[in-house]
Amino acid sequence: MPALIVGNWKMNGLGEDIAEVAAMAGSSAAKGRSGIWIAPPFTLIDRAVIVSAGAVKIGGQDCHGNAKGAHTGCVSAPMLADLGAGFVIVGHSERRRDNGETDADVRAKAMAGRAAELEVILCIGETRGQRDSGQTEAVLSSQLAGSLPDDAEGLIIAYEPVWAIGTGLTPTLGDVETAHAHIRSQIVARFGPAGHGVRILYGGSVTPANAGDLLRVADVGGVLVGGASLTAQSLLAIAAAAP
Ligand code: 13P
Repeated sequence: MPALIVGNWKMNGLGEDIAEVAAMAGSSAAKGRSGIWIAPPFTLIDRAVIVSAGAVKIGGQDCHGNAKGAHTGCVSAPMLADLGAGFVIVGHSERRRDNGETDADVRAKAMAGRAAELEVILCIGETRGQRDSGQTEAVLSSQLAGSLPDDAEGLIIAYEPVWAIGTGLTPTLGDVETAHAHIRSQIVARFGPAGHGVRILYGGSVTPANAGDLLRVADVGGVLVGGASLTAQSLLAIAAAAP
């Protein structure tokens, strides 16, 4: 399975930055073996869809758990689909932290995303304290148990250790392999054989320098990239590092 390279722009990007999406879409990497997906801020989704012309899949960084209603300032999954988005990220640790999102909230968002026929990237990961106290696998199991949608179709899991996000720190390759194997076992236990088809991404301080090693770890199906996804030069260098 070719690696999937997903950029999460978080709260970054103004109109002028659309040129970066256009450059990514124009590269052979976008059309070649590695898929490139970008989640710009909501404000840029429609423009990103236009300039990417199908070569880069564009998605949202979050959606509401309901399709519509009295939720000032929120964006629903059907609204994302209406703009031409093809996927949505749910459960990012920054949203869990900043907005108090629970596993039940994340599950509702994942279900809403699937109902709108978006592919769903569901993020899980342990804190430094949880890793240091040996709870990593228990935390991952509990987050999956509480947040997985009803079926495996259109589902992608992103393993993002909270302590690795934006810190320049990454787990050892062995720790990434162990975490992904654990996630796989949980997904297969939950969904049966269909669980083998769910892609598992690694995220947290991925750069052009470490992407090649991370993408060679067993059952790492791609990467979810924050800071290093903001320019075409950097993201394309990550895509070029894919085996
Ligand atoms: P960084 O790549 O900036 O560490 O962010 C990772 C992330 O949170 C992607 O969703």
